[in-house]
Amino acid sequence: MADWGSKLDKSNDKRKAAVGRPDITLPEVIQAYDTWAEDYDKDHVGVFGGPFLSSAALAKVLGDNRDALILDLGAGTGLCAEELSKLSFKNVDAIDASQKMLDIAAQKGLYRKYICAIVTNERLDIEDDTYDGIVSSGAFNWGHLKVNCLPELIRIVKPGGYISFIMREECLWKVPEYKDRLEPAMLELQNTGAWERVSRDIVLNYLGEINGIVYTYRVTAQGMPEERLRSF
Ligand SMILES: C[S@@+](CC[C@H](N)C(=O)[O-])C[C@H]1O[C@@H](n2cnc3c(N)ncnc32)[C@H](O)[C@@H]1O
Repeated sequence: MADWGSKLDKSNDKRKAAVGRPDITLPEVIQAYDTWAEDYDKDHVGVFGGPFLSSAALAKVLGDNRDALILDLGAGTGLCAEELSKLSFKNVDAIDASQKMLDIAAQKGLYRKYICAIVTNERLDIEDDTYDGIVSSGAFNWGHLKVNCLPELIRIVKPGGYISFIMREECLWKVPEYKDRLEPAMLELQNTGAWERVSRDIVLNYLGEINGIVYTYRVTAQGMPEERLRSF
């Protein structure tokens, strides 16, 4: 089993500023990543399994469709694009709220587009049914994405496309926004026919002793009903 976090520096002040503070707000999160951007890769490469594991989960369901158009949600400095590129997926767009993180990603030149936007339940400047898949690593976290962004993600994925995302498992009970809300919301979307779950796997030691959880969902032909998009 991979131990992604055995070399994790638990005293890292920039990590402490960006994640793990229960009352952190999204503007503070963005500011923290803007400050962390230059050092982010140094603090993550080799010690954080999220980009590899989420990319592998999406690659598994996309199969031979190496031309698939993928959106990396909360792309940061582009670590998922590096993993997807190794797997021969080259059509990847980045979306992130931190321009400084995207600036680092842009230096690597691995994305087709760099979209600086805060993802919420509001309409993004992206057409319906655009992507074959969404990948996301570490963007569900304290003060990060809210539960109500899920319908908007479904809207921009093609019928039959996939959404794979990974987060700390402990966020399910430690983050007030997700506690007793995130998984019930995911189930509600399944029960109303917008998507169906392909997999839900716990990953041990994804960041230090912290376990991860990686989900993959398949968007149905029906997708997200227009009237539920903004009221979810
Ligand atoms: C832990 S970093 C992960 C970066 C990259 N995916 C990785 O695995 O290295 C989380 C990223 O999500 C972004 N983010 C958090 N909340 C967001 C939101 N609501 N909309 C867009 N980006 C967001 C942050 O700016 C940050 O770059």
